[in-house]
Amino acid sequence: MIENIKQHISDVENFFSDKIEEIEEFRIKYMSKKGGIVTNLFNEFRNIPIESKKEFGQFLNDLKKIVEEKVDNLKTKAEDKGSEKIDFDLSLPGDSNALGTRHPISIVRNQIIEIFSRIGFTVSEGPEIEDDWHNFSALNFPAEHPARDMQDTFFIQKPDILLRTHTSNGQIRVMETQKPPVRIIVPGRVFRNEAVSARAHCIFHQIEGLYIDKNVSFADLKQTLMYFAKEFFGEETKIRLRPSYFPFTEPSAEMDVSCSICGGKGCNVCKYTGWLEVLGCGMVDPNVLESCNIDSKEYTGFAFGMGIERITMLKFGINDLRLYFENDLRFLRQFS
Ligand code: DAH
Repeated sequence: MIENIKQHISDVENFFSDKIEEIEEFRIKYMSKKGGIVTNLFNEFRNIPIESKKEFGQFLNDLKKIVEEKVDNLKTKAEDKGSEKIDFDLSLPGDSNALGTRHPISIVRNQIIEIFSRIGFTVSEGPEIEDDWHNFSALNFPAEHPARDMQDTFFIQKPDILLRTHTSNGQIRVMETQKPPVRIIVPGRVFRNEAVSARAHCIFHQIEGLYIDKNVSFADLKQTLMYFAKEFFGEETKIRLRPSYFPFTEPSAEMDVSCSICGGKGCNVCKYTGWLEVLGCGMVDPNVLESCNIDSKEYTGFAFGMGIERITMLKFGINDLRLYFENDLRFLRQFS
């Protein structure tokens, strides 16, 4: 009998499991009130000869204690292990991904597109890598024009392949493939070989506008720009056109809007003039139409081009062009 108990003690000591159900099975096998090994042995106790009772009792108590300790130990370990796995509340809501915000340039570009699309302009895009014809020659730039100079233009392959210096290439790309009436805006990135500073950058964005049809006049240009200025800068905004020069328009003008910061009274943003320069424009030069095989006796048109960075600066009071390209979250998070 004693040998029997010793065997059980050794079995119990060798038992191992980290599964709660197996440990419980093991406990029942030894401790169950009905038919458990330990219980049965206790029932045997009265059949043990008197002289062996003491020794039997000691071994039996040992066995019982070892079983209890083993079960306690294994259960604690198994539970700990389980809790390592799911140490959190599965019913809690998950962490949401922080959404980014729109870049201020995108906000303003989309707003400008939206304003012009309301009066029938559609969006076109020209390539950023362009040839001399679409960026300069077809736009009536004379061969010796300083804008073609290495100083301004990034050439990819001299003399013909370059990074576009303006979105006006979009005018040519569209007129080559589309017959009038043409009513488009061309938003995009442009590149100029400028030293980077608060007021100049080698990459920036423009939006070009082009309207070609029969009987398009300077009055149409003026009305269109006035509509845009009031929609973008506010109903009270005034515009003025100053004579200017661009190779691809004749006559050409630059448009100023009354300063949206001081309302025209004069402040440091408008340099105390009450006016802010926002875009270049004019009537499309007949040479440009002819370059695209459009009959300049039948059709006329106007064009305009504006820098998105500049307009965004005015809208949001941004004073350094470099901020647009640095991706500093402290700057970007201020826009939504
Ligand atoms: N392309 C000119 C620039 O980059 C801007 C411009 C001026 C575009 C007059 C036009 C225009 O379409 O008519 O400075």
